[in-house]
Amino acid sequence: MNIKNLTGLLTILSLCGISTSCPSVCTCNGNQTDCSDLNQLISLDSILDQLPSHTTSLTLSNNNFTTVESGSFSNLGRLLHLDLSRNLLSTFHPSSFSQLNSLEFLDVSENRLVMLPVTLFSDLRRLAELVLKDNRLKELNPDQFKGLTELKSLDLSLNHLSSLHTNLLDGLQKLAWLSVVGNRLTTLHRDSLKQAMGLQHLLLAGNPWNCSCEVIPLRHRIEWILFKGGQIDSVHCSYPTNLRGKDLRNIPSEMFGHCHYLNFDTRNPPATDSHPGSSGECIRQRYRPVSVRRAPATVVVAGVVCGVVCIFMVVTATYGCIYAMMAAHEQQKLKQGDSHQQPLMSAKNPEQDLVNEQKEDLMPSIRRGAEAKECTGWMAFPPEVCV
Ligand SMILES: *[C@@H]1O[C@H](CO)[C@@H](O)[C@H](O)[C@H]1NC(C)=O
Ligand SMILES: *[C@@H]1O[C@H](CO)[C@@H](O)[C@H](O)[C@H]1NC(C)=O
Repeated sequence: MNIKNLTGLLTILSLCGISTSCPSVCTCNGNQTDCSDLNQLISLDSILDQLPSHTTSLTLSNNNFTTVESGSFSNLGRLLHLDLSRNLLSTFHPSSFSQLNSLEFLDVSENRLVMLPVTLFSDLRRLAELVLKDNRLKELNPDQFKGLTELKSLDLSLNHLSSLHTNLLDGLQKLAWLSVVGNRLTTLHRDSLKQAMGLQHLLLAGNPWNCSCEVIPLRHRIEWILFKGGQIDSVHCSYPTNLRGKDLRNIPSEMFGHCHYLNFDTRNPPATDSHPGSSGECIRQRYRPVSVRRAPATVVVAGVVCGVVCIFMVVTATYGCIYAMMAAHEQQKLKQGDSHQQPLMSAKNPEQDLVNEQKEDLMPSIRRGAEAKECTGWMAFPPEVCV
């Protein structure tokens, strides 16, 4: 009965893909497995094959492992924490970590990594902390960290990086801690940190910073992070010679007074892009003051407005001339008519005139109305003939 039950349980467990074993060389404690410092020649895959699939934390550090095969971690979908530090890893297969959908922490520090496959981390959507410290990385693909929207901490210290691509940190909105300590960086392009708006700790020490005019964007970014209560370790200049050994944060802005054309706002960078180390001429073009950049548009608008106003003035003047000519003409006509009619009317019928005068006295308002019509008639266009 007991044996039957046990066999049944084991069958169910194996059907569910749950293994209860722990590799003999490792220490298992609940969901946490420690396979560090094994001190014996054993392949990574032989360990991984024996691991219980409910493992959430796995330490494989200090074992001289040289490579991770594709799909090695495929049955460890619940893994949250993976430590591969202090091995001899020089490369990864592009899909080495492709099954680790839950992984939040990955440490591959102190290995011999020279380059990383672009898609290596692309499935680690939950990754919050990535440690690439102390390797031999010379450069990183602009899309290396693409999709790591949960990443909060990125350690790139002690590598051989001489530049960071402008778009390297794009999309890392949650990045709060970044270290590039101990690399070969001379400058950071003004747009390199533009998307990492949540950055609170920026560690920049141990790089040969070039504190010529092109360092101003980095300086602005540092001031911005400090203003928001963040922390920066130190940024010691290696160049130019008069600033060697000085900390960028302590150099008075007067020292950059000659960099007039770089006096711009880093918080609203233009959409156009260029790579770090672009020539001074290009920088000058991009960083022209806003007023100068907008000048052509202003000229065009002003030209159009002036043109419209001019046309309007010409039309008005023409109208005025015609109006004046016609007015003068009509007035002359009227005067001539009056001088002819006046004597005739008085000679024709004095009684009628008297009656007319009386009528006019009786109805002064009508008379005045006629006068008013005479006046308003002249105001109209074309001028009416008013009597
Ligand atoms: C790793 O290799 C080094 C020599 O490169 C050796 O001294 C050390 O004992 C090895 N460690 C293990 C765990 O095999
Ligand atoms: C520092 O930057 C300036 C301006 O881009 C450049 O002319 C100079 O060569 C750089 N110096 C070093 C040592 O990289």
